[in-house]
Amino acid sequence: MEMEKEHRSSHPRLVLVPLPFQGHINPMLQLGSILHSKGFSITVLHTAFNSPIPSNYPEFGFVSIPDNLSEQLISADDLLPFISLLNLNCGVPFQECLAKMVQKQEVENEPSIACIVYDECMYFCDAVAKYVKLPSIVLRTTSASTYLSRNAILQLKAEGVLTSQGTSTNIQGAVASLISALESLFNIFYLGSTSQDLVPGLHPLRFKDLPVSKIGTPEIFLQFITNIYKTRTSSAIIWNTNDVLEQPSLQEIHKQCQVGIFPVGPLHEVAPASSRSLIKEDNSCITWLEKQKQNTVLYVSFGSVASVDKKELGEMAWGLANSKQPFLWVIRPGSVDDQEWKKLLTEGFVEAVGENGCIVKWAPQKEVLAHGAVGGFWTHCGWNSTLESISKGVPMICKPCFGDQRVNARHVSQVWRIGIQLENMCERGEVERAIKRLMVDKEGKEMRQRAKNLKERIQLDIREG
Ligand code: UDX
Repeated sequence: MEMEKEHRSSHPRLVLVPLPFQGHINPMLQLGSILHSKGFSITVLHTAFNSPIPSNYPEFGFVSIPDNLSEQLISADDLLPFISLLNLNCGVPFQECLAKMVQKQEVENEPSIACIVYDECMYFCDAVAKYVKLPSIVLRTTSASTYLSRNAILQLKAEGVLTSQGTSTNIQGAVASLISALESLFNIFYLGSTSQDLVPGLHPLRFKDLPVSKIGTPEIFLQFITNIYKTRTSSAIIWNTNDVLEQPSLQEIHKQCQVGIFPVGPLHEVAPASSRSLIKEDNSCITWLEKQKQNTVLYVSFGSVASVDKKELGEMAWGLANSKQPFLWVIRPGSVDDQEWKKLLTEGFVEAVGENGCIVKWAPQKEVLAHGAVGGFWTHCGWNSTLESISKGVPMICKPCFGDQRVNARHVSQVWRIGIQLENMCERGEVERAIKRLMVDKEGKEMRQRAKNLKERIQLDIREG
C-alpha cells in the first residue's frame, strides 16, 4: 500500500487538452514532452478531428473523445464558429472520459491525475475540471502582446465605449462621447484593416494591427476573447513566450493577473523531443538545401490555416522568380482557393526558376530554419513560426493574414527589428524589392545580425534556466 502511494505520488499524471490545429497541437505536445522528462506521466485527451498521431509520441497515452465534427478543411473564416462549436460539443464527452479515467486509476493503480492543462481556446475544460474537482492550468499559445491588445479591446467594451453608453449629463457632452465611441468602434472593427493611427497604450501597434476578426459581428468576436481570456478557476497560466522577447508585456500581465504566470517558451527549444506534424513532411527539400550556398535561401510558408487566392499566388511566384534568389516554398494542399493553381506555375515560371526554386506540400520546418543555407523566412507570422525563426536567428519578411499574426509581424519589424512587413496586397514588384532588401542589401544583413543576437540571448536564457 505504501509502495502504491509512493508510485502514485512520484509519477503524477497530467491530462493535456490541445486545440486540434497544428499551431496549437505543437506547443501543447512540446510542453508534454518537457513535463514528461521531469517525471510526469502524460495523457493527451484529443478530438477525433485532426487527431494527433499517437505512434509519433510512444511515451504519451492518447484518448480520443467524440466531437461530432466532420473532417473538413477549416479556413480562417470558419475558425471562430468552429471553436465555439468544439466547446459546445466536447464538454459532456470530456467529462465522461475523465470520470472513467479517475475510476480506472483507483482500480488499476494508475498514476493519479494531478492537473488538467488545456489550450486557452478549449475553455470548456475549466467547468469540467471544476466538476470533477481537479485543478487546471491554461496554456496560452499566442504572444503576451496579443493578449494585451485583445484585452484592450475588451476594456473599451467594459468602459462602455463600444456599446456607446456615454456618462455625460449634458447634451454636448453626450454628443462628444457618442462621436468618440463611434470613432473607436469604427477604427477597431471597420477601419481596422486600413487605419495607420497608433492605438493609445499599445505601442507600436496601429489600429490596422489589432487582432480582431472581420468575420461575423463585433459581439461574436468580443464573446470569443472573453471566453479565451477569462481565467475562471484555473490555478496558473503557462505561456509560450519569455522575458527576452516580451518583458514589458509580461510585466503588465503579472500586474493584471491574479494567478501565477509561467512564461516558459519557446517550448520547441526547451522540449527534449521535437513535435511531429499532422501532414507528412517532405524531406527531399533538405537534400535540395544541401546544394545551396550559406544564407542564400528564402524559405516561404504560411502555416497550417492561412490561404491565398490565385492572383496572390501568381504575384508571389513572379516576385520570387524575378528576385533571382533561391527559394524553398511550402504550398500546403488546400491553401490556394483554386484547384487549377498548378497551371499558373507552369506557364513560363518553371523555365524562369529552373533549379533555383523548390516547392513542397509540407516541410520539416524546424529543420529547414536550422539549415545554414536558409537566410530568410517569408512568413504569415503565426506565433510558432515567429518563435521558430527567432530561435534559429533567421530574419523575416512578414505577410500577416489574420488575427494575432498582425501583432507578431509588427513586433518583428518594429520592436525586435529583425524583419520587413509587406503592408499592401501582394504585388510582384513589392515582393521582389522586399526579398532583395532582406537577402542582399546591407539593411537585411543588419537584421540577420540582430536576429542572431536575439537567438543567442534566448539560448542563454534557456541555459540559465
Ligand atoms: C495558428 C494561427 O494561425 C496562428 O496565428 C497562431 O499564432 C497559432 O495557431 P498556424 O497558422 O498554423 O497557427 O501557424 P504557426 O503558429 O506558425 O504554426 C505552424 C506550425 O506548423 C509551426 O510549428 C511550423 O513549424 C509547422 N509547419 C509549418 C511545419 O512543420 N511545416 C510546414 O511546412 C509549415
